[in-house]
Amino acid sequence: MKMKLSIFFFLFAGMLVMLLSRCTKDHLPDPPICYQTDIEPLIVSNCTQSGCHNSVEKSAGYDFSTYEGILSAVEVGHYKKSSLYKVLIQPFGEKRMPQPPAEPFSDEQITLIARWIEEGAIQSLDCQSACDTTFVGYNGTITPILVNYCTGCHSGSQPQGDIDLSSWSKVKPYADNGSLAGSVRHASGYSAMPQNGSKLPECSIRQIEKWVADGAPNN
Ligand code: HEC
Repeated sequence: MKMKLSIFFFLFAGMLVMLLSRCTKDHLPDPPICYQTDIEPLIVSNCTQSGCHNSVEKSAGYDFSTYEGILSAVEVGHYKKSSLYKVLIQPFGEKRMPQPPAEPFSDEQITLIARWIEEGAIQSLDCQSACDTTFVGYNGTITPILVNYCTGCHSGSQPQGDIDLSSWSKVKPYADNGSLAGSVRHASGYSAMPQNGSKLPECSIRQIEKWVADGAPNN
């Protein structure tokens, strides 16, 4: 009995902490959302796989490989009315996008899309920030790029092209054989990545090249 009570207590305390941290987070000023780096890669990487919303198949009439295509699922200024948002918050099942077995978007990713829609679903904001290539770490720099642009296709039980980019030891061989840098640079002899999407921002490409040139360390 005592055991049970303490489990309840911990669950309750845990939930309280989660709720409180959410509230405080909402009150922090948020950085502006940049379509090119925050929204497009997320959608292209998770929604344009073969059989889905790409320019060839246009599943359900949607081609999410372009800004115009993404906008067609958006009610500008009203995220709750936008199908792009509504499908993300469906319960597990056929209507939930990305469709299972793909993982649902995280709360942060969903919030990002909701905020972008509320803020007018603008395509170009001045999102230039200085490109820092002095120190490029796998964890701090490379992982966020891969998660944002690549692992929608390159992870899970059936990664596209049989290439899994979800951890350092899995990424390392592609760094070493040149295909990681070659594919994001759109160099000849490599498939251009992200597939179906626009080229990564020049800064991210340079950071990947720097990390590869450093020997692709697990840093
Ligand atoms: C929409 C799905 C999709 C996205 C997003 C995507 N890829 Fe790919 N990728 C593929 C598929 C499919 C293949 C295998 C077919 C091919 O080589 O074109 C592939 C192949 C590759 C290859 C092997 C290329 C070669 O020439 O040997 C590398 C490396 C790669 N991807 C890295 C990346 C990186 C890095 C990103 C993110 C910047 C990324 N991919 C984003 C679908 C994707």
